[in-house]
Amino acid sequence: MASSVPPPPPLPPPSHHHFRTPPKTETPTLTIHNPKFERVRRSLLWRGTHAALPEYLFRCANGDNLRIRQILGGVEKGLGTGAALWDAALLIARFFECHPGGYEGEFVVDSDTSRAIKFAVPMVSSARWVELGAGTSLAGFAAAHCGVGRVVCTDLPVLLPLIRENIALNQSLLGGRVVEAAYDWAMEPPSEVAQHGPFDVVLVCECVYHAVPELLLVKAILALTRPAGGKQPVVLMAYEHRSEHIRRRFFDLFTRHFYIHCIPHEDHHPDFEVDDINLYVMVPRPDQPALPADCPCQTAF
Ligand SMILES: C[S@@+](CC[C@H](N)C(=O)[O-])C[C@H]1O[C@@H](n2cnc3c(N)ncnc32)[C@H](O)[C@@H]1O
Repeated sequence: MASSVPPPPPLPPPSHHHFRTPPKTETPTLTIHNPKFERVRRSLLWRGTHAALPEYLFRCANGDNLRIRQILGGVEKGLGTGAALWDAALLIARFFECHPGGYEGEFVVDSDTSRAIKFAVPMVSSARWVELGAGTSLAGFAAAHCGVGRVVCTDLPVLLPLIRENIALNQSLLGGRVVEAAYDWAMEPPSEVAQHGPFDVVLVCECVYHAVPELLLVKAILALTRPAGGKQPVVLMAYEHRSEHIRRRFFDLFTRHFYIHCIPHEDHHPDFEVDDINLYVMVPRPDQPALPADCPCQTAF
């Protein structure tokens, strides 16, 4: 009698896989806890990102977009450096956003006596600012967008059409608070500028570079910071360091004419803070040394 052996189990279907699929593993992530590296990484998100754009959109903290037109190849077209937007303008625009209502402080001007002076950079509707070498004018526009009631954006006559165009593009956000005027530092401030003063703040963004004669810039700043109407205007200057030679050329002269305070980088916008761009507050010294009569009279483009 045949024994009842159960049939063998069916064979598995033929496999097309010749290799076993490796078990899934997590992709390793590299975390670098290096604050210096992190700052550089953050700066790469914005530095120079505007360089090749005919129009750059500056997205304000409240979601508004400031439209900034540039003219590419401006130097070759005879417009100088002002037809392009510069990194320091982005940095100072973000600085404004961090200080609603304004920025104020105090700094020691005489270490022997510990004498300190107070300063204020008001960003309110009653404040009047003038910007020198405004170029595409982002810095001035950002100040107005943050609440400054009047900003006069000035530059060489050749840049006025670009400033006008940018003001027109942003009129709905700026609401008439920004006006333009031609001002060549080789001249006395024209009435188109002076009529809006006396000023609380003289804004100077990225105007310290090889082609500018330092005496010309100092002369222009002093002309706009004479105390008037009970106000002592302060200078707010954004400076990108490129060469020690240029820095010394300008700052040796600045220190003779102004008390200078470097704004601590903790007060900059944390994502728009880099080693080589400083913001300075400068207050004219009461004991002004005389300026040489024969001032160099032109910026060499
Ligand atoms: C490097 S650009 C900076 C432009 C703008 N402030 C910015 O940060 O994007 C320097 C500006 O200084 C202006 N400038 C140079 N020499 C000048 C002068 N003698 N009188 C008036 N403006 C001058 C240039 O026309 C230019 O707009």
